[in-house]
Amino acid sequence: MAEQDKVKWDKKYSENTEFLSYRSAAQMVEEYYHCCGGKRVLDLACGAGRHALFLSKRDYLVDAVDISPVALNHLRQQINDNVTLIEADLDTYIPQKESYDLVIMTNFLDRDLIRRAKEALKVGGLFIVETYMEDEANEKEGYNPDFLLQPQELKQIFSDYEIVAYDESWNESYEKRRMKKQAITVRKR
Ligand SMILES: C[S@@+](CC[C@H](N)C(=O)[O-])C[C@H]1O[C@@H](n2cnc3c(N)ncnc32)[C@H](O)[C@@H]1O
Repeated sequence: MAEQDKVKWDKKYSENTEFLSYRSAAQMVEEYYHCCGGKRVLDLACGAGRHALFLSKRDYLVDAVDISPVALNHLRQQINDNVTLIEADLDTYIPQKESYDLVIMTNFLDRDLIRRAKEALKVGGLFIVETYMEDEANEKEGYNPDFLLQPQELKQIFSDYEIVAYDESWNESYEKRRMKKQAITVRKR
């Protein structure tokens, strides 16, 4: 599985260089990062690194994990010393326990990884997730349903956390086809 993901994503990034171009941070990250109570961040499936870049410029220390060497090599050229790049398969990656003030997962869904990453968060820290959800108006066809959230699912996944903010909205206008997204910011009790 990991090898397949690496090949698939390396090909995507190599053939569509716009995926590596600058994108702004997700709205919930911009709005809530400073409420996390510390400086250590885990950016899961960081891709081209929009959040690692945004946060490292603000003096946060970011561990940025992804499986794609193409994406990570591109990001390597732009980072400062505040970012540590980690090439790893998130299907099996186990982040260090109770080490992070902020965990971010955007445009990526692995429910078991969320479970493992919850343990990596310090008490009082924030977890921000934003990704695609099931919706009959979605324009992208053939999407693997395992990678789509069900309505309100993030609230259930984080029912043991304090919900700071929750939102459902359309994806960014630079994406070719409209898809519904769900976003949540939660605090570990
Ligand atoms: C749609 S991109 C999201 C990038 C970034 N989080 C953002 O919101 O801009 C999905 C990322 O997941 C990474 N990915 C896919 N499968 C993975 C796996 N098994 N382990 C680690 N990263 C993976 C891909 O390489 C890709 O960079």
